[in-house]
Amino acid sequence: MNDSQKVDWSALRKDFPILNQQVHGQPLVYFDNAATSQKPRQVVQALVNYYERDNANVHRGLHELSNRATKAFEAARERAAKFINARQSDEIIWTRGTTEAINLVATAWGTKFIKAGDVILLTEMEHHSNIVPWQLLAQRTGAKLAFLPIIGDIGLLDLARLDEFLTDRVKLLSFVHISNALGTINPVVELCERARRKGITTFVDAAQSAGHRPLDVQEIGCDFLAVSGHKMCGPTGIGFLYGRMELLEQMPPYHGGGEMILTADYHKSTYKVPPHRFEAGTPDISGPIGLHAAMDYLDAIGRDMISEHDQQLGAYAYEKLMGLDKIRIFGPHVGRAGLVSFLLNDIHAHDVTELANQKGIALRGGHHCTQPLMRKLGVESTSRASFYFYNTTAEIDRLFDVLKEIQKFFGS
Ligand code: ALA
Repeated sequence: MNDSQKVDWSALRKDFPILNQQVHGQPLVYFDNAATSQKPRQVVQALVNYYERDNANVHRGLHELSNRATKAFEAARERAAKFINARQSDEIIWTRGTTEAINLVATAWGTKFIKAGDVILLTEMEHHSNIVPWQLLAQRTGAKLAFLPIIGDIGLLDLARLDEFLTDRVKLLSFVHISNALGTINPVVELCERARRKGITTFVDAAQSAGHRPLDVQEIGCDFLAVSGHKMCGPTGIGFLYGRMELLEQMPPYHGGGEMILTADYHKSTYKVPPHRFEAGTPDISGPIGLHAAMDYLDAIGRDMISEHDQQLGAYAYEKLMGLDKIRIFGPHVGRAGLVSFLLNDIHAHDVTELANQKGIALRGGHHCTQPLMRKLGVESTSRASFYFYNTTAEIDRLFDVLKEIQKFFGS
């Protein structure tokens, strides 16, 4: 028996009432977890408790409710620091999610450290959120973007070419930990280590990994790391940026407004130290509180268990779906994360997704916000089934049967 078999995965489904419903007369199979995960009762209850008992603005009032809200808000920051093993909670900045975290660094760090002729190195498998903010920075500064290639449909980074790309001009390497479109798990420690040896700053997009496996920023050795709460059982609209304090201290503000200043005058202001320098205005308060409950929930299961279970589902789905005639599955054959991205015959991904929906299966069909990657793969779009710990192999069997029916429907 492997470790993940010690967890009663199906028992956890009772924490997710949303999963227990019929869609188009069939039991719902929710396979769109890479887009957003479902939320357990414990997270919903934390939000209800906050709004019913403690709601007030943080860091401002001297009254009891404001003190309680501030305490819960800062306790969530401590929890987030512990979740990724940051050295101190001041290295955690609340953002709306990964996208805002990347924009924050591209604007604040980029303004300070990037100049014309510098190179920002990305990879060919990045999400638009890890491309467009750097394009904007490049347009502002005259810097250039470069892209580490992937190898064909298997979608692994071409690490043999990494040193060739890590030139003296490169100031930042920013890359996705787990690809939302391929299921590739990138060797995060090695990538950061090889960049750091050349004095290059590193940014890890952990949107798809944070809720799926243990993360330790000290072991990874990255300078920045971004997390989205809603993909890991937390509410939408909340996530965080981890930044190494030596860098955060040198960065100018991202947004200006209340709560980020030390002193303000009509023509000039001085700013607080991180993290508050980067959190202008009234923040999302319930978000961190809900995310705190989500982090507790995930760690009660064990992220090492979740990661093992994910990989079992990913491998099972790959093997099972490869049993279909004329299927093209993108991403690595082995060691994939818990998702499969595929094309069935020459049927459009949107048709597959819509017909699966008619059978109660929630897939995602499209370019997955990775248009450059799709172009590289020579396709417009794919269908994607992405799993979380509450999914089962029986649901994957159901997907297999439905895909077979779809092929029959299209006469192939
Ligand atoms: N980035 C999210 C996805 O892959 C929205 O679906």
